[in-house]
Amino acid sequence: MKSLAVLHASQLITLSGPKRPRVGAEMSELAIIRDGGMLIRNNRIELVGPSDAIERKAGNAEIIDARGHVVLPGFIDAHTHLVFAGNRIDDFERRARGETYEQIAKAGGGIWSTVEKTRAASDLDLLAQAKKYAKWFLRCGTTTVEAKSGYGLTVDDELKILRVLRQLIQEAPLEVVPTFLGAHAVPRGISPDEYVDLVTSEMLPRVAQQKLAEFCDVFCEPGYFDIVQSRKILSGAKKFGLKLRIHADQLSNSGGAKLAAELEATTADHLEQTDEHGIAAMKSAGVQPVLLPGSVYALGSSGYPHAREMIAAGLAVAIATDFNPGSSPTPSMPMILALACTQMKMSPAEAITASTLNAAYSLNRGDKIGSLEADKLANFAIFDCEDYRELAYWFGIPQTHSVYVKGERVV
Ligand code: NIG
Ligand code: FE
Repeated sequence: MKSLAVLHASQLITLSGPKRPRVGAEMSELAIIRDGGMLIRNNRIELVGPSDAIERKAGNAEIIDARGHVVLPGFIDAHTHLVFAGNRIDDFERRARGETYEQIAKAGGGIWSTVEKTRAASDLDLLAQAKKYAKWFLRCGTTTVEAKSGYGLTVDDELKILRVLRQLIQEAPLEVVPTFLGAHAVPRGISPDEYVDLVTSEMLPRVAQQKLAEFCDVFCEPGYFDIVQSRKILSGAKKFGLKLRIHADQLSNSGGAKLAAELEATTADHLEQTDEHGIAAMKSAGVQPVLLPGSVYALGSSGYPHAREMIAAGLAVAIATDFNPGSSPTPSMPMILALACTQMKMSPAEAITASTLNAAYSLNRGDKIGSLEADKLANFAIFDCEDYRELAYWFGIPQTHSVYVKGERVV
C-alpha cells in the first residue's frame, strides 16, 4: 500500500483530544495545526503534525500539496434516508404554493408516494440511484453516512432496501451504516397496531438474523407511531441487539426525547419541539441529539431545534442532513453547517465538531473516524479555502477540492 504525505495545509483541523464525544466548550476546540501535515500508510493516519516534521519523515511517500487549503476529517452524516425511488418535486411545488407537509401527506403525497415508487422499483434500480447519491455525498466531503430503510413498509420491501444498502456497502467507497426504519409510516390497508406487530414479530427477527442493520429507528409522532407503539418497537429491537435512534419531537413535543432517554437510545433526532424537560432527560441518559436543520429549512419553517440550550446542557450535539426526497433533499454537509450557524446560532467550530467527531461517536465509530489522529482511518477532505469558517460562510457553492477514503482519492 502506497504512502501519502499531506503537506502545508493552511489549517489541518485535527479535532484531536479526549477519546469521547465533545460537550460544552470542548465543541469549540478543533486542535488546528497551521501549516499542518499528515503521513498516511496502509489506509490509516500514521502521524499528524507541523508540515516540516511530517516532510522529514515522508520518505518516498506521494506528496499532496495542501497549500492554501483547509484539511478536515471527512464529514460524518449521522441521519440519512438514502434508498428511495423517484423524487417529490410535486410536493415541493405544492409547498411553494403554501400547502403544509402534513396537508400534502394527507392528500396522497408525502412518505406514502415514495413508498409506492420504492416498492415498484427493482433492487438494481434502487442500487443505481443509491450509488448516484453516494457520489453526491462524497462530492460534498462526506465519507460516512448512516442510512435508513423505511420506504418499503412490507417485510419484503424493507428487506429489499436493507439488501440494497448491503450491496452499496460492498460497492461504494462511501462508508454506510445501516438502520432499520420499518416504522416510518403505517402503510395503507392495515391497522396501526397490526403493523406494529408485523414490525416486531416478522421484520425485526429477520433484520437481526440476517445482520442487515446496526440500529433501529422509529418515526415517533402522533399520526405515525405514538409513544406506546414506539416503545414496543424499540424495546423489541433492543432485545435483538440493535442499538436505537429515534425521530423525536419533530412536529410536536410528544415525548420522543424522553422515550429516547428511557430506552437509553444512542441518539434522538430532529428535536425541533423538544423542551427543557426533554433536554434534561437526554442529558441524564447520555443520549446524543442529532439536529437536522435542512428539513426545517426545506419545509419552509422557522422552528429550528434549540441547539444552544442543548450545548449549554452538556449534550454531545451532532448535526446531519436528513437526506430524503420529502423534507430534506440535500446531501450537503456544508449547507447544514451554514444553517447551523445562521439559524441555530452554533459557532462554525461547534458545527464542525457536530458533523465529524460527535457524529462518529453517535454511530459507534468514534475510535476509527471523525478526527485526524494517529491510527484513525485516513478519511479526509481538502477544501478550496484557507479558513474552516469559510465552509459555513460561503453557501451554495461547492468548495470541495478532493476527498480521500482509507487513503484512496475518491473525488
Ligand atoms: O426525517 N420524519 C420522517 N421522515 C423524514 C421525512 C421523510 C419523507 O418525507 O419522505 C424526515 O424528515
Ligand atoms: Fe429522517
